Amino acid sequence: MHFFLDTADVDVIKKLAETGLVDGITTNPSLVMASGRRFDEALKEICTVIDGPVSAEVVAMDVDGMIKEGRHLAKIADNIVVKVPLTFEGLQACKTFRAEDIHVNVTLCFSAAQALLAAKAGATFISPFVGRLDDIAQDGMQLIEEIVQIYSAYDFETQILAASIRHPLHVTMAAKLGCDAATIPPKIFEQLIKHPLTDKGLDGFAKDWAKTGQTIIR
Ligand code: G3P
Repeated sequence: MHFFLDTADVDVIKKLAETGLVDGITTNPSLVMASGRRFDEALKEICTVIDGPVSAEVVAMDVDGMIKEGRHLAKIADNIVVKVPLTFEGLQACKTFRAEDIHVNVTLCFSAAQALLAAKAGATFISPFVGRLDDIAQDGMQLIEEIVQIYSAYDFETQILAASIRHPLHVTMAAKLGCDAATIPPKIFEQLIKHPLTDKGLDGFAKDWAKTGQTIIR
């Protein structure tokens, strides 16, 4: 399972990339706003730190506008994945990009029918927003389950990228369902490693080791 960070904050990306566990990045207009950076400059920098897919979202609503913006974004680096919304215009742009060998992440997916259309349009990634479904008392993970079932029934190559992740359990549930990837906010990425029994156990080992008076390397 691939782990992407859901952020446009270059400093945070640099810090967490040091773990060697970050496979890619996703950004969106809200995350760019939060970063306070110029989008193109932040993207260039992110692509020097991360080799894997870096999603950059178009903001035009019409097909021609999306195609122009997407082609522009794709030129920034070889690992840019153009992100388009799940609208008929977005899917038309997706087909055009795929014919040009530009990878596409189809975003704002809230139903299995939408995911099916994105796969038919040749999307590289589909981004079902599990947290936003949970927020309105619908089951985000059930959507993932349906997409996994549909994509495997037809051998679609579109990769399922669990998005709108709100807590570590979303990540492990997505993994259990066989998601190809999850895009994780930095705070939740850091929470993934935390367990109070790990901290307690480590503390106990450190104290007992100190009592031995030994050093591992003499
Ligand atoms: O990047 C898209 C998605 O992950 C957004 O998440 O938390 O704004 O619902 P959120």
